[in-house]
Amino acid sequence: MSLLSLVKPHRRGIFFILFSIFLSNVLALFLPWGIKIIVDGVLVRSGDALLLRKVLCVLLAVLVVRTLLSFLQKYISSMVGEKIVADLRGRLYAHVHGLALVRIRQISPSQILTRITSDVDSVRRFVFGDALDFIYAVFAVGLILVVLGCINGRMMMWTLLTLPLFVVIYFGGIPRLKRCYGRWRDVHGRLTSRVNEVLGGMMTVRAFGGEVYERKMFEAGQKDVVQAAGQAHALNTALWTGAEFFTSMGVLGVLWVGSADVMAGRMTPGALVAFYSYLGMLFAPLMRMVVINSSYQEANAAFERIADVLNIDDKLKLSAAPVALGDLKGEVVFEDVSFRYLTQQRVLEKVSFKVMPGETVAVVGPSGVGKSTLVGLLLRLFDVEEGRILIDGHDLRELDLDAYRRRVSVVLQDDFLFQDTVAANIGYALEGLSFDKIVAAARVAQAHDFIMALSDGYDTKVGERGVLLSCGQRQRIAMARALVRDPRVLVLDEATSAVDAMTENAIQKAVKDFGAPRTVFVVAHRFSTIMEADRIIVMQEGRLVDVGGHTELLERSPFYRELYLEQFKGSGECMGSEGVIL
Ligand SMILES: Nc1ncnc2c1ncn2[C@@H]1O[C@H](COP(=O)(O)OP(=O)(O)OP(=O)(O)O)[C@@H](O)[C@H]1O
Ligand SMILES: [Mg+2]
Repeated sequence: MSLLSLVKPHRRGIFFILFSIFLSNVLALFLPWGIKIIVDGVLVRSGDALLLRKVLCVLLAVLVVRTLLSFLQKYISSMVGEKIVADLRGRLYAHVHGLALVRIRQISPSQILTRITSDVDSVRRFVFGDALDFIYAVFAVGLILVVLGCINGRMMMWTLLTLPLFVVIYFGGIPRLKRCYGRWRDVHGRLTSRVNEVLGGMMTVRAFGGEVYERKMFEAGQKDVVQAAGQAHALNTALWTGAEFFTSMGVLGVLWVGSADVMAGRMTPGALVAFYSYLGMLFAPLMRMVVINSSYQEANAAFERIADVLNIDDKLKLSAAPVALGDLKGEVVFEDVSFRYLTQQRVLEKVSFKVMPGETVAVVGPSGVGKSTLVGLLLRLFDVEEGRILIDGHDLRELDLDAYRRRVSVVLQDDFLFQDTVAANIGYALEGLSFDKIVAAARVAQAHDFIMALSDGYDTKVGERGVLLSCGQRQRIAMARALVRDPRVLVLDEATSAVDAMTENAIQKAVKDFGAPRTVFVVAHRFSTIMEADRIIVMQEGRLVDVGGHTELLERSPFYRELYLEQFKGSGECMGSEGVIL
């Protein structure tokens, strides 16, 4: 992506902006020239009142045109700027949505947010603020120098003597100033991100009595910020006041030469006054040209950060001619599936199994063994590294992904609720869904009763990430969200781990009777959840080590028995000789 491709659709607006900048600069030259005519033609010599009126009328007309032009130029440039920003943000947002999930997890959400908001904004500020100012300044300086040369070439040369000063500021002062501002921004950024984190983790801070520690850290951070800001301000002020002093010296020098010329009759007093007016108009744009470099660097860095995200080419490779799924039957086959996250070692190693339509399969294994990874692969959140996954006999990579995901529902292990109402969370991304369906799904998920007890029932807001609900309540809303789509394949990754055993049992029964038969994957640590499954897949160190029914696995697999017995050790529950709870 290049800046040019963003700007291209708006070339007419940009042409108008450039034209109006040029015209506005030309018109600005009229005022000092008018002063010259008034001083020489009206004040010093004839006292010609008609000439005075004529000049004033022209100046008034120029003023009106300039004001109109400036209004139009500012309005058009801000609108073009906003449109380009919206376009760039849109591209970034769409790109991030298309990225492979493993990659997104590597970039933190706050980093992506910065790219989409403040980085895009710095690019806009530069292109439609400082860069336009720069173009304005180039026109202004060029035109004014020409006019100064026309009035008095010798004096103009004197003026040019101050230029080396700007070179010194440009190469000496500005880079140092930039470094100072950079340090200031860094320490400030570190402090804000820490504050952000602490506010988010307030419960943990309180629970560990970390308030005093955090306040101390904050104070230390503030001290760094003040120190860095102080350095930047000091250098900034020294640079500008120094520049002002030296340019004023230059102006004095020019006054000396100019007055001598007027006294010798080489120049009219009006021309001297006009020269000074033009000179006054020269330094501000010169300074603007000097500082452009630092703001360019800043915008360029922001643009590069944006481009870094846009250039990540790690998307799921979608099939060019995807297989359209009719009704999903729900047969799932894993064939020698292996997978690793980016550079890590393999998480899954040659996993193979087959699940028939309508079957309920449980996946069991120690923490970190790869169960959630398996779920992610089944949803095609990531692609397999080796092997393949077949859905109703089709390779998952050849299916129309949107259509497939609409027929598969999932309750993720760390599922996410949006800061919205209960009903909106259950009906997430489904437009035109009837309220009755939401309630029916909530009833199956054993959520209806507690939802009705909330202050606004289904219209209750759940807070950020659902913080206003208990963990088990959140899980049941996530369960309702999965069920409301009446999926042919349902994947439950620790979906009821925080729900009490009785409610969990009720959910299991209700899910079975709800809608048409479906294939169900259950990932769980709790054996009361697992034992109900038709078959159980046992995983150990990324491999599938056994598949079978609960009783048969208890007899056959020492590893499964170990997992099972560990859970009930010391629980006070009484086990029969075959390890079954009595
Ligand atoms: N996004 C990721 N990037 C890199 N590694 C990951 C990522 N997600 C998981 N892992 C690693 O993959 C392995 C398997 O993780 P996974 O979440 O599948 O385990 P799990 O069996 O679901 O565990 P649990 O029972 O605790 O939920 C772990 O070692 C984990 O560190
Ligand atoms: Mg997991």
